[in-house]
Amino acid sequence: MINQKLPKIWYGGDYNPEQWDREIWKEDERMFKLAGIDVATVNVFSWALTQPDEDTYDFSVLDETMDRLYKEGVYICLATSTGAHPAWMARKYPDVLRVDVQGRKRKFGGRHNSCPNSPSYRKFSVQIAAKLAERYKDHPGLLIWHVSNEYGGYCYCENCAAGFRTWLKERYGTLDALNKAWNTRFWGHTFYDWDEIVVPNELSEEWGGNRTNFQGISLDYRRFMSYSLLECYKLEQAALKKHTPDIPVTTNLMGFYPELDYFEWAKHMDIVSWDNYPSLNTPVSFTAMTHDLMRGLKSGDPFMLMEQTPSQQNWQPYNSLKRPGVMRLWSYQAVARGADTVMFFQLRRSVGACEKYHGAVIEHVGHEHTRVFRECAELGQELQSLSDKLLDARTQARVAIVYDWENRWALELSSGPTIALNYVNEVHKYYDALFKMNVEADMVSVEEDFSKYDIVIAPVLYMVKPGFANRAEQFVSAGGTFVTTFFSGIVNENDLVTTGGYPGELRSLLGIWAEEIDALFPDQKNEIVMKQDWNGLSGTYECGVLCDLIHSEGAEVLAEYGQDFYQGMPVLTRNRYGAGKAYYVASSPDEAFMESFLANLCEEKGIKGLLPERAPEGVETARRVKDGKEYLFLLNHSAEAAEVNIGDNPRQDLLAHSSVSGSVTVPGRGVVILES
Ligand code: GLA
Ligand code: ZN
Repeated sequence: MINQKLPKIWYGGDYNPEQWDREIWKEDERMFKLAGIDVATVNVFSWALTQPDEDTYDFSVLDETMDRLYKEGVYICLATSTGAHPAWMARKYPDVLRVDVQGRKRKFGGRHNSCPNSPSYRKFSVQIAAKLAERYKDHPGLLIWHVSNEYGGYCYCENCAAGFRTWLKERYGTLDALNKAWNTRFWGHTFYDWDEIVVPNELSEEWGGNRTNFQGISLDYRRFMSYSLLECYKLEQAALKKHTPDIPVTTNLMGFYPELDYFEWAKHMDIVSWDNYPSLNTPVSFTAMTHDLMRGLKSGDPFMLMEQTPSQQNWQPYNSLKRPGVMRLWSYQAVARGADTVMFFQLRRSVGACEKYHGAVIEHVGHEHTRVFRECAELGQELQSLSDKLLDARTQARVAIVYDWENRWALELSSGPTIALNYVNEVHKYYDALFKMNVEADMVSVEEDFSKYDIVIAPVLYMVKPGFANRAEQFVSAGGTFVTTFFSGIVNENDLVTTGGYPGELRSLLGIWAEEIDALFPDQKNEIVMKQDWNGLSGTYECGVLCDLIHSEGAEVLAEYGQDFYQGMPVLTRNRYGAGKAYYVASSPDEAFMESFLANLCEEKGIKGLLPERAPEGVETARRVKDGKEYLFLLNHSAEAAEVNIGDNPRQDLLAHSSVSGSVTVPGRGVVILES
C-alpha cells in the first residue's frame, strides 16, 4: 500500500508554482486548504529551472515549494522533470534530440522529446534524478517519485539504430536466426552483416503510421522502443532508490496508449499511475475497461489516478465541460475500479502556451467562487471523510479478458485481411457486454495466472506466444471456460504463421480448423444462425468484419453462417476439453448476441452480476473488498435519478451515513457507496 504516510485517498494534482509570482503562492495555499487538497505533483517540467546549464543546479524555488507546501499540510509527489530536456542541452548535446519517423533530425521544441538511447540524455536524466533524491531524501513531505512524464514516442536516430542492432544480437544470437524470424528471403532482404540493418521508418520499410513491408522488423522495433524508454525509467528509478529505497516510484501511464507494452513496464514500477482523459462521448464502459486494464497491469494492485481534468481539456477537437457532478462521478469511477488517489492536471491554470485553456482547480479568475472549484472542494471534503476505508481494497472478478500489446502491434501492422479490424474495439465488445450485466472482469496479460478465473476471454488473439497454448489447455482441462475469436492463433511471437492450419497452436484446444478468412466491407454483414435455442440465445444475429470459414474437428457446432457461399459452415463452436470448454466465435457479432452469449457462459459458471437484477441503464456497478467487508459502488452516469434494487440485506451508505436496503435512489450523475 502506498498511502501509509498519508492514509487516505490522496487528493491534489500537478502544480506549477514556478510559472507564478510569490503573491499567487499564498492564494494557492489558501485555496488548496479550502479544496481539501493534500498532495501536489511538482517539478514535472522544471528541468530548465533547476539546471540552467550543465554545471549549475539551482533548487531554490523547489526547496521553497516543498517546504511551504509541507508546512501547509500538502505532501509532495516529486517529479524528476526529465519529460522535457532544457534548450541548452539540445544545443550542446544534439544527441538528445530525436530523429522522427520520416528521418528528420528534430530541433529543440515540444516535450517527451528526448532520444531514449542518447548517452547524454541518459547521463543527465540520471544525474538530475540522483541530485533530487539526495537533496530531498529526508524531506518529510516527500510521498512518492514521479519519473519523467507520459513516456512515449519513438526515435529513429543512429544511436537508436546501434542500440537496436545490439538488442537484436541479444534476442536472436545469430543473423541466421534473425533472417529466419523476419522471413527476409521475401523480397531478397537477407542480411549478411548486422550493420546492414537499419531502423524501420519512412526512409526504409514503413509508411503511413502502421504500414510496413516487413512485420518482423517493425514489430521488433516497437519492442525495442518500449524497452529503450523503459530503460530510461529504470535508470532513473535506480538512482532514486539509492537514496530513498522506501519511497515508491511511478511514472504516469496513458491507458490503452499503443506504443508501450505497459504489462512489461509495470513489472518494474512500484505502483501503476495513469492519466484519464475521456471525452464527453467516450463510452462509460470504455473508461471502466481502461481503469481495469491499469489495475490489471500489476495483477489487481490498486493504482493511482495521477491526472484527470477538473473540467475540460484543451487538446481534444471539442473540449466539452464536465457537466455538474461528472468530475465527482468519474473520480469515484476510478476509485471504484481500484484507484487509491484522485489527482488532477492541474491545480492552477497557466496563462500562456498551449495548456492555458486546460481546466484547473483554480481557474483564470483566480478565486474560489466558481462551479469547478466548488465541486472540487466538495469532493475534497468527501474524500477526507472516507479516510482510509477503501485504501488497498481489491476486486474479485471471476472473468478475465486478455489484452496484449504485442498482439495489438502485430494486428495493426498486418497487411490484410482487413483494415476494419480494431483490436481494442473487439476487446471492448466483450468487456461492454459483461459491464452491462454488472459482471466484474479483470483485464489481464497473456502471462497472468488463469487459474484464478472461471472464464478467460482472449478476443482476436492473433499472436500466440510460446507457452500460451499450453497454459490455456491446462486452464480448460481443469474446468475453465476459454473463449477466443476469429483471426486467432495465426502467428507466433515473430509474426510468422503457424503452418498446418489455423488457429495454429490453439487448434486442438478449440477442436476446429479455419480454412479461409473472409473480409467484409463495412456495410456488409453475415448472420449467426443458432442451431437451437440456448437459454434465450436463439434465432439469427448479425456479424461482420471478418468471417473465418471453419470446420469442426470435434467441436460441437452451436451456430452456422446464414449467408454467402459459406452459409451452413460453423460460426460458433464449443469444444469439451478435459473438464472445461473452449468456445470459438468465428466472426465479430452484434451486441445482442454478445450479451446473451456471455450471459450463458456466466450462468454455466454460476457467475452473477453485482445486483439481484440488472442495474438500470446508465448505472455502473463495481465492487472492492477489504478485511471481509464489501464496498459496492453505484455510479449513475445518466442525468436522471435511478432506482437500484440492491436486495434485502441492509448496507451502510458511506456518503449519506444511513442504512439502506431494497430500492436505493441514485441521483442523476450521483454516486452511492455501500458497505456490507
Ligand atoms: C498529460 C500530461 C500533462 C498535461 C495533460 C493535459 O496528461 O501529463 O502534462 O499535458 O496531459 O491534458
Ligand atoms: Zn534515438
